[in-house]
Amino acid sequence: MRFDILTLFPEMFEATLSASILGRAQSQGLFEARAHNIRDWGLGRHKQVDDYPYGGGAGMVFRPEPLFACLEAVLELPEAISLENPLAVDFPVILLSPQGERFTQQIAQELANHQRIVLICGHYEGFDERIARYATNRELSIGDYVLTGGELAAMVIVDAVARLKPGVLAEESPHEESHTRPLLEYPHYTRPAEFRGWKVPDMLVSGHHAKVAEWRFKESLRRTMQRRPDLLEQIETELDKKERKLLAQVRQEETERLPASDSIEENL
Ligand code: ADE
Repeated sequence: MRFDILTLFPEMFEATLSASILGRAQSQGLFEARAHNIRDWGLGRHKQVDDYPYGGGAGMVFRPEPLFACLEAVLELPEAISLENPLAVDFPVILLSPQGERFTQQIAQELANHQRIVLICGHYEGFDERIARYATNRELSIGDYVLTGGELAAMVIVDAVARLKPGVLAEESPHEESHTRPLLEYPHYTRPAEFRGWKVPDMLVSGHHAKVAEWRFKESLRRTMQRRPDLLEQIETELDKKERKLLAQVRQEETERLPASDSIEENL
């Protein structure tokens, strides 16, 4: 799998892509991520990439020429993209912007099925609309807040997608965790069994596998109920009979425990 990232700040990607799990995965050849400097296709002596907005107003706008030229070079297109020759590729060419569709785990999974992904990072007040319309086929936002540029968003997407590729993580881990099935993860504990007076729940120390699995599932439900009731609503109908029984137990426990308190997790 290959990511091409079009950016004005390729150096921002060096640390994230070469460190830790992603760095190791890249050196093992499990995926490849390359950052390309859009300014290399900038206009004139000053390598200009932005300009004043037509119609006036504050801020600068990304010009289309450098971005289209950079994309055409990266994709090695035989012909320039134009009205007569629209972008025609069967993989995602993604514009990062706060106006995009919200990036989710489900989209990460979809993207992980592709061999190639292009990510375009904006800066300034925005892009010339022709970039969004004709140089890309998808627009994604990582959340309802505005960043200074798309670079951090691109890193988030590379990270979330790359780790789904077989071999990048230790086997199994991606399936159990939050958001694959939209339940939050149960709490994790490791040694020591008691730390400064705080104990690991007895059930986990017991070594009884079936009971541990049930405890974990219940705590997943509890956490989702407390923190993301919207997710629980989505999956409630998909629970099997046994799971529904556990959910009823959690509900019961919570109503018995809660009345006056907001210290929801105290007794986990
Ligand atoms: N660029 C600026 N803000 C962004 C966001 N929230 N998501 C993606 N790209 C962005």
